[in-house]
Amino acid sequence: MFSTKIMMPMVEVKEETRDITFKIFRYNPQIDAQPFFDDFNIPVEKGITVLRALNYIKENIEPRLSYRAFCQAGICGSCAMKINGVTKLACTTQVWDELENCAEENVLLIEPVSNLHVLKDMVVDMDMVVDKIEKYFGWVSTKMPENQFGKKEFNIPEEEFKLYDAATDCILCASCISECTMTKANKDYITPAVLLKTYRMESDSRDSISDKRMDTLVEKNGVWDCTHCYRCMEYCVKHIPIMDSIHHLREKAIETRGKTDTAGAKHADAFVKDIQSKGRLVESLLPIRTNGLMWTVRNMLPMAFKLTKKGKTPPPPFLMKPIPGIKSLRDLLADLKNRNQTTHNGKGGSK
Ligand code: SF4
Ligand code: SF4
Ligand code: FES
Repeated sequence: MFSTKIMMPMVEVKEETRDITFKIFRYNPQIDAQPFFDDFNIPVEKGITVLRALNYIKENIEPRLSYRAFCQAGICGSCAMKINGVTKLACTTQVWDELENCAEENVLLIEPVSNLHVLKDMVVDMDMVVDKIEKYFGWVSTKMPENQFGKKEFNIPEEEFKLYDAATDCILCASCISECTMTKANKDYITPAVLLKTYRMESDSRDSISDKRMDTLVEKNGVWDCTHCYRCMEYCVKHIPIMDSIHHLREKAIETRGKTDTAGAKHADAFVKDIQSKGRLVESLLPIRTNGLMWTVRNMLPMAFKLTKKGKTPPPPFLMKPIPGIKSLRDLLADLKNRNQTTHNGKGGSK
């Protein structure tokens, strides 16, 4: 436990000040066999951000403490870390606001983002994200002929920009990656941030590599593997509607490629068929229809036993009756399907 009673020099003391402990994740793979936590107790004035408190600890108590930060204004995306268990930007998070989220009174828990390899303390390896941006063609490859380069601007209509305006707000902080359930289960999964970037590039009319991008996107670990848990959207530090982008990509995948043979595509298909037929999921059959009988027996049987012991087994399919009002739901779905077909026919099948 490190302790100091020195007043923070960065602000004039006018506001309320409290002694707060920062319980910080420490790990230097060159010298530490295991990660551990260090406690730093410092007086913090109301109005101080987590990043400024970390700067104080680094400048006055523990110079070896490592974390990334640059803009200090929520723009560069480098200071993402877990604060009291939730991934946030340290430079836009007030220590005072976090006090109500502490498991132990006045003790802030600081950890690196999840799902990325820790290099040292809060510094994680972003190569996985960069590699995926490369794999999924996260850039616009221009349609402009080379002899026109530098001679004229290649503008897009304002209406088109509105389609991906929100996606351009992404600062690649990796908070959504840290909170993504699918990335936790499968490190090869594309990740929400890369899906968002892919959508942004895919929607740009100046781009010429949609075919290559969509081909890769519908493969295993791509757009169909998202489980729709919505956590990425809930925790995005820029409040970007990431799920809208994922839905747009899926619509485009169906329009241009049809459904593909991945578990994610089968899962989506089974999901829609259940809703059409009963208005709810037939959960007992969903794993078999998604991953096949052998996979289900191998991977789900132990869980099925546990659920049975606790009396939480989903009802067998033959006992599941359609929900009341299923007819109006089916009418709605049919109407939606017709409208989609009309729109796609009108647009030549692509947006
Ligand atoms: S909705 Fe999909 S991308 Fe977003 S957190 Fe869940 S699994 Fe990940
Ligand atoms: S989508 Fe949001 S949370 Fe994810 S990297 Fe971009 S800004 Fe960060
Ligand atoms: S330091 Fe740039 S976003 Fe926090």
